[in-house]
Amino acid sequence: MSWTRKHLLGLQDLSRDEIQLILDTAEPCKEIFTRPIKKLPTLRGRVMVNLFYEPSTRTRTSFELAGKWMSVDVVNISTNLSSVAKGESLKDTAKTIAALGADFVVIRHYAAGSAKLLAETVQVSVINAGDGAHEHPTQALLDLFTIRDKKGTIEGLHVAIVGDILHSRVARSNIWGLTKMGAKVTVVGPPTLIPPGIEEMGVDVSYDFDEVIPHVDVINMLRIQKERQVAGLFPSLREYSALYGLSRRRLDRAKDDVLVIHPGPTNLGVEITSEVAEDPRASINEQVTNGVAVRMAVLYLLSGGKDIP
Ligand code: CP
Repeated sequence: MSWTRKHLLGLQDLSRDEIQLILDTAEPCKEIFTRPIKKLPTLRGRVMVNLFYEPSTRTRTSFELAGKWMSVDVVNISTNLSSVAKGESLKDTAKTIAALGADFVVIRHYAAGSAKLLAETVQVSVINAGDGAHEHPTQALLDLFTIRDKKGTIEGLHVAIVGDILHSRVARSNIWGLTKMGAKVTVVGPPTLIPPGIEEMGVDVSYDFDEVIPHVDVINMLRIQKERQVAGLFPSLREYSALYGLSRRRLDRAKDDVLVIHPGPTNLGVEITSEVAEDPRASINEQVTNGVAVRMAVLYLLSGGKDIP
């Protein structure tokens, strides 16, 4: 199949074939990591603006590297140092960026729907780097890439997504992506952190991590999002950790070949212990590496590439 979309706003919109194409395109992109000179001329002359209204290490840096390794000119806008701090609206900021000749805008924003609003406002390609609790499509794509790389397939796997489902754009994008690719998904967490009606997205729900853990092939541990939480959703971090944290004791009850992933940043000692994060069954650092390859693939496809570079 060939790619026809101008924007990447979420995985809810994408077909299985489109997701497959991104993952397949990312495979040769990962090979660039082994080269002494990490630079392809593929997108020379294109301009990408990273517009981040929320903090980020992994997403912003990997988009910047993905662009630079494909010879894109990359500009980072820190909203606290830009005219956003003087009250400029998202729409006006976007129009300014478009007038400066950007081809891609990568946006992270605290409001759900902000990437879509931008795509409707300006003529540039918009990539959603996380909008509120809605979607974080490139995170889910790198998670899918890591799962396929480690397990050889996604179809037929049983994946547990554990923790703060309510506030998690990573969970939502993972659910769309995993179910489209044929995985069985169980979301696990305290009742207060699982949104009512989530079963309509095609997932099972469990409040009992210990019951689920022996049956799954992949465990995706989510970060407790202290910045989005209202008080009182669980009694204490200690109790949350005791019931839903991934400890050595709990991991020992999982399948021997279980894959543990986490989008980062981790709250070590809360949702995952440092011992588990460093266990050979965890691929947290590899996820970060794969994020560059996946984001190279996204930039390449959105700019009209037809063959794998
Ligand atoms: N996973 C993720 O989005 O991390 P950052 O907030 O560091 O980009």
